Amino acid sequence: MQSATMNAADTLHMLDPFEQLHRDAGCADRALVARVIAAFRNSGTLLGQFAANDTLHASSYLAVSPAYGRFLQATARTHDARNIVEFGTGMGVSTTYLASALRANGGGRLIGTEWVPAKVDRARANLAAAGFADLVEIRSGDARITLQDVGAGVDLVLLDGEFDQYLAVLLLLEPFLATGAVILADNALDPDYIDYVRNPANGYRSSVVRLDDGSCIESTTWTAA
Ligand SMILES: C[S@@+](CC[C@H](N)C(=O)[O-])C[C@H]1O[C@@H](n2cnc3c(N)ncnc32)[C@H](O)[C@@H]1O
Repeated sequence: MQSATMNAADTLHMLDPFEQLHRDAGCADRALVARVIAAFRNSGTLLGQFAANDTLHASSYLAVSPAYGRFLQATARTHDARNIVEFGTGMGVSTTYLASALRANGGGRLIGTEWVPAKVDRARANLAAAGFADLVEIRSGDARITLQDVGAGVDLVLLDGEFDQYLAVLLLLEPFLATGAVILADNALDPDYIDYVRNPANGYRSSVVRLDDGSCIESTTWTAA
């Protein structure tokens, strides 16, 4: 029964893991969002990529939205995913949605990777707090190295790191993809990546998915054996 003397800390502790993560992300990203808005006002351009050693970037979540997270969850559930690879773990918000689907699917494994060490620590802590540490391995370092040996049977991939590395990471993972694997790419802006996955000769079928909140995802299926 709820106590009348419950304080704010108790109430926060009761938030579901996703609500808590999105609140943390909103607070952590405030300064970065302000910088992006200021840059836009001054120069009329949006900030693009961030250097890995950029301190503001290192403390920001840059996480998927709640709607995006639910889309990831639903995709992993409908594909009965058991073997997931994620490029760009950040603080682990997308990872938590995907791990929740793995749990609901009866188990499996998720290999994520992140090159900012502080984010690796935070992601591991967030996954542990949400109760999914047993399903997730977060590899610290550059995805182009850490994902070289993920093993066969990968059935779902999320690409959410540096935009211009999507194709390199996909090519790295290609030998490990199970037939029917789905590859979701956040903001797939690199024309080389789009050309590659939209060319059926390469073994893919692909199209863009737009969510109500404006999120844009290139959703690709690996059709080759
Ligand atoms: C948009 S954030 C990821 C957010 C995360 N998917 C989520 O929803 O919580 C992108 C992350 O990818 C990381 N990243 C970018 N390129 C990388 C690379 N080559 N190897 C490892 N991590 C990388 C960045 O440091 C950043 O934390």
